[in-house]
Amino acid sequence: MGLTAAVVPAAGRGERLGPGAPKALRLIGGVPMLVHAVRALASARSIDLVVIAAPEDAVAEVTRLLADHGLVESGPGHAATLVVSGGDTRQDSVARALVALPYDVDVVLVHDAARPLVPTALVDAVSAAVRAGAAAVVPGLAVSDTVKSVDRDETVTATLDRSALRAIQTPQGFRREVLYEAHAVADPDAPATDDAGLVEALGRPVTVIPGHEEAFKVTRPFDLTVAEAILAKRRAAGVVS
Ligand code: C5P
Repeated sequence: MGLTAAVVPAAGRGERLGPGAPKALRLIGGVPMLVHAVRALASARSIDLVVIAAPEDAVAEVTRLLADHGLVESGPGHAATLVVSGGDTRQDSVARALVALPYDVDVVLVHDAARPLVPTALVDAVSAAVRAGAAAVVPGLAVSDTVKSVDRDETVTATLDRSALRAIQTPQGFRREVLYEAHAVADPDAPATDDAGLVEALGRPVTVIPGHEEAFKVTRPFDLTVAEAILAKRRAAGVVS
């Protein structure tokens, strides 16, 4: 069996959160989001290596940050990490991290730094589903709101069948060769918002497994408030440092 690597695109500016540091470096419970996300991945039993795509001008800063949190070298119960320079789009950032993977990695998970509180059990569940034979695996949750499509004037054009919709999270897991092929043929001028979308474009099946509410994406200020509350609850229960 080969190795399993996790790739973390963390080079976004995060403008929807308002002005300030790059999104991945925003603090939750006094600790940068990226550190939470990397710690969750690195401490998952299934993960052997974590590769982070940082903003081009912040590679040294991110490397130092991970070192300060004991997350560069592998240690008891956690994998090693490596920081590379990200690109102009999420897709480009993932592609740059893929180039840095050792040859003996055969399963790759891609996880947004913007999902800092992902449970380690979800990381291992995605890895296990790929190891069990799926080419591509995504965690998904049923949608609770009614979802409508609209035109440019915000006039509703259709109400979608909610029972057939899933809100898709990360980590998304892939056989290495499938993800490489998907990125090799992807259109850089029409970047995808997730990696599974590129695999779908290849015509390959993508399997959904149950996601987790705490794997939500921090996008707007409200999400930071929710993340702080979840972390405070975990700390009170003695679950995290
Ligand atoms: O913008 P969005 O929230 O969809 O970003 C998802 C993830 O992609 C974030 O973790 C962000 O840091 C990352 N990203 C990146 N490189 C970019 C843009 C976004 O790594 N150029």
